[in-house]
Amino acid sequence: MTQTISPIVLDHPLVRHKLTYLRDRNTSTADFRRLTRELSLLLAYEATRTLSLVPYKIETPSGAYQGEQLDGKKLCFVSILRAGNGLLDGMLDLIPSARVGHIGLRRDHETLEVSEYYFNMPRDVPGRTCIVLDPMLATGHSASAAITRIKEAGAHKPIFACLLSVPEGIAYLQKHHPDVQIVTCSIDQKLDAHGYIVPGLGDAGDRLFGTR
Ligand code: URA
Repeated sequence: MTQTISPIVLDHPLVRHKLTYLRDRNTSTADFRRLTRELSLLLAYEATRTLSLVPYKIETPSGAYQGEQLDGKKLCFVSILRAGNGLLDGMLDLIPSARVGHIGLRRDHETLEVSEYYFNMPRDVPGRTCIVLDPMLATGHSASAAITRIKEAGAHKPIFACLLSVPEGIAYLQKHHPDVQIVTCSIDQKLDAHGYIVPGLGDAGDRLFGTR
């Protein structure tokens, strides 16, 4: 049997504080965006914890120093449209040289099945560590479909980063992609009958972009 990788949960007072305001239905669109940006920066910090380093020599003002730098071609963030874009700014604040890919997936509200309407990735994906972004890991169908597509494009062992997740979504993603590391700010209780996370925060895309 293939071994799955346990999710990393950002159990930190700052994260819990910010998540509470994010969940609050009375939080404004501007504050929701700001909190998402701040949380995504913290997610980026945790999601990149296992990146490898190589030695790198520099001169400090007081002499030679054997430092370190990130190995290889570095990172590619992959935003699952449209809510994934809400996580991009914070990630890019921390890692400005990362490349960015986009995947557009539509979810049928009756069947919860997903179909693709957009796919655009940097050409050099095989040499980069891919971090797939979606604020919500709900059924896991979109995350799994997105990861299947980026693996077809050459991504190796991608990482999946989200604000909220549920056990059902984690199990689905682990079943289809046991090699993927999930990084999340919280594992919530469950999904409701419409595939929304409970307690959750509502529709992440609508709250980020002020629609509906
Ligand atoms: N997508 C959302 O935006 N919210 C949920 O609760 C689940 C999926």
